[in-house]
Amino acid sequence: MSTNNLKPKSPSESEIVMTELVLPNDANILGNALGGRVMHWIDLAAATAAHKHCGAICVTAAIERLSFLNPIKVGQLAHLKGRVVCTGKTSLVTKVDVWCEDMDTGETYPTSEAYLTFVSLDRNGKPRKVPPLDIKTDEEKAERERARIIRNKLLEIKGRVSK
Ligand SMILES: CC(C)(COP(=O)(O)OP(=O)(O)OC[C@H]1O[C@@H](n2cnc3c(N)ncnc32)[C@H](O)[C@@H]1OP(=O)(O)O)[C@@H](O)C(=O)NCCC(=O)NCCS
Repeated sequence: MSTNNLKPKSPSESEIVMTELVLPNDANILGNALGGRVMHWIDLAAATAAHKHCGAICVTAAIERLSFLNPIKVGQLAHLKGRVVCTGKTSLVTKVDVWCEDMDTGETYPTSEAYLTFVSLDRNGKPRKVPPLDIKTDEEKAERERARIIRNKLLEIKGRVSK
C-alpha cells in the first residue's frame, strides 16, 4: 500500500449507518429478506462510505467474504454500518456489518458482513488517488490486516501482486 499527498482520514470519518424496514416485496416465500436485496443494501452502504472517504464517485470492483449468518424477517429492521478499512493507491476496501432489530422485542443480532473493494474514478472515468487511512486503534489495525489479506488474494487472482 503506498501513501500519497492527500490528507489522511480516519475510518470513522467515512462511517455511515443506514436502516431498511424489510417489506414483503423484499422477501422470499419464507418471509426472510432476499439475499440479493441484502447484497444491494450492502453495496449501497459500502459505496456511500467509499464516496465519503474519497469525495468522489467510486465503483465496485469486488465483493468478498459475504456471509448470511441469520435471516431477517419481514417487519424487522436491517441496520447496515459501512466504513473504509484499507486503502491502496486508487482503490480501497470497505467493511459492511449488517444486523437485525426486532422492534417488538428490541432484540438485535448480527446477520451479515462483507468486504467490498472500490476504485475511485475521476470525471473521465480514470482511476484517481484516494486519501490514505489514518489508522490509530488496535481494532482498526486488525481490520486493515484482514482487508489486506483479502486484497492480496484478489490481486493474486488478477496477477497483479507486486513482489
Ligand atoms: C474497477 C475498474 C475501474 C478497474 O479498472 P482497471 O483498468 O483494472 O484499473 P487499474 O488496473 O488502474 O487498477 C486500479 C486499482 O483497482 C484495483 N483493482 C482493479 N480491479 C480489481 C479487482 N477485481 N479486485 C481488487 N482490486 C482491483 C487495482 O489493484 C488498482 O488498485 P491500486 O491503485 O490501489 O493499487 C474496472 O475494472 C471497471 O470499470 N470495472 C467495472 C466496475 C463496475 O461497473 N462496477 C459496478 C457498478 S458500480
